[in-house]
Formats: sequence, structure tokens, C-alpha cells
Amino acid sequence: MPSHNTLEESTRSTAHDDDSRPMQLTLNVWRQAGPTEPGRFVTYQHQNVSEHMSFLEMLDVLNEDLILRGDEPIAYDHDCREGICGMCGMMINGIAHGPQRATATCQLHMRHFKDGDTITIEPWRARAFPIVKDLVVRRGSLDRIVEAGGYISVNTGAAPEANNIPVPKPNADRSFEAAQCIQCGACVAACPNASAMLFLAAKAGHLGLLPQGQPERYRRTVDMVAEHDKQGFGACTNMGECEAVCPKEISIDFIARLNRDLIRAKLTNPSGY
Ligand code: SF4
Ligand code: FES
Repeated sequence: MPSHNTLEESTRSTAHDDDSRPMQLTLNVWRQAGPTEPGRFVTYQHQNVSEHMSFLEMLDVLNEDLILRGDEPIAYDHDCREGICGMCGMMINGIAHGPQRATATCQLHMRHFKDGDTITIEPWRARAFPIVKDLVVRRGSLDRIVEAGGYISVNTGAAPEANNIPVPKPNADRSFEAAQCIQCGACVAACPNASAMLFLAAKAGHLGLLPQGQPERYRRTVDMVAEHDKQGFGACTNMGECEAVCPKEISIDFIARLNRDLIRAKLTNPSGY
């Protein structure tokens, strides 16, 4: 439970610039000065929130008030604010990216909340995602899984003619679905085992479905799974929480596909791995 104590803050927003009735919110925000510092919830009364604000804009306004008061602003990751880059992400009332399905934190709008709501905001919590500060976690462990997959052995040089390598339409569509993963890590944060299997399966799947990804398909699968385990992510136990929070609606069918490739790699070594 968030603690309401002497740390309670009162903030006054001046960013309400439309005719709709302003919202007033109570925010319980995880504050942690650094990786080895103790963390705690701090309660803020945030007034005059516009329903047209994005969730991050709501936090921006809170931060402006904190800075004006001489307080430390809340640290959180963001970049594109268009649901593309995967930088944003926080637990909002216990749900990774908040209550709106298929929506990254940066695309979540305050109209999905009500005046008077209490909102609890926490960082992703997983052993493989150590906290840097407040709501910022280090997600380099996901990069290392991708690195373990290595490159595809295509001959680079002049740009190839796009139609030189025919790709069956169903495979192209399926590969494109997997390639939409933005590496946000919400699937890990939502999983009771902090497994990154949905992320891994998307990354392995989008290459493994294309002709260009075939030479290293099975070696890539084995290496990425080994790195996943090494980075401290947990095992997938088919809970489905990952799929429910994924802002790109990556299907857990990709995990089944990954498991088939993994079994085939172990049993038949088709890549000469
Ligand atoms: S699979 Fe979905 S939730 Fe997981 S990292 Fe990719 S986009 Fe984010
Ligand atoms: S800030 Fe880029 S996806 Fe949210």
C-alpha cells in the first residue's frame, strides 16, 4: 500500500487549456533516488488535469510544478511519444502500460481516467530490469538477447531489387506482425515469472519467417533462448499476461512457434548447430 505521510505533496497544474472540466487526481508514485537507494511511494495531489492530456503530459505538468517548487522531478523514460520507439513504460494501477488495451503509456490519454481517481505508478519490476531511478529501469538485457541472435548472412552491397526473393504473402504478413514489437518490456513486467519469451519469440519469429532468416534460424533460436535465461528472465508458463498488455498485440502463438523451432533444433540440429 502506498504510504501517505509527511512526504505528501500538493501540486497545482496550470496546463489546463481547454473548456472541459479539469480533473483532480491523487497519484502514488514510486520514487527511488538511485539503484541502491531505498524506494517508496510518494503521494501527489495533481489538480487541473485535462482529459486531453496524454499520461506522459500529465506527468510532465506534475514535473513542472515539482521543479517550480524546487523538488526533484520524477524520472521516466520516453522518446517518440507515438507508440513506436518502446522507451516509455510503467505500471499504472498494476497494469503494464495502463488500462487501455494495445496502447503504450505515451499513447494513453487521461480521458480513460475519472475525476477524483487515485492512480498508482510504478516501474517495471523484474530481476533483469534493475531500477535506475524512479520509474526508469535498465532494459539492456533485451538488447543482449537480440545480440545473441546475431546477423543474417545476406550478401550486402548494392540494394537488391525488392522482388528478387519471393516471400509468400502469409509469411510476409506474419513476419510483419512480429516485427512490430517495440522492445518495451511490458510483457516481462506483466509476467508472473518475468519471462521475456513473447519479446524473444517476436524477434526470432520475424526473421525465421522470411527466406533471408533461414540459414541461421535454428542456431539463432538456441542462442537467444540461452541468453534469455542467462540474463535472469524466468520461464514461460503460458499465463498469457504478456499478450494482454502488449501494445502491439503480439500473439503468444509466436511463443509456440519458437518452442517448435527450439525442439527441432535440439533434436535434429537442422542448421548444423
Ligand atoms: S512483445 Fe509486446 S510487450 Fe513485449 S517487448 Fe515487444 S512490444 Fe513490448
Ligand atoms: S515514447 Fe516511444 S513508444 Fe512510447
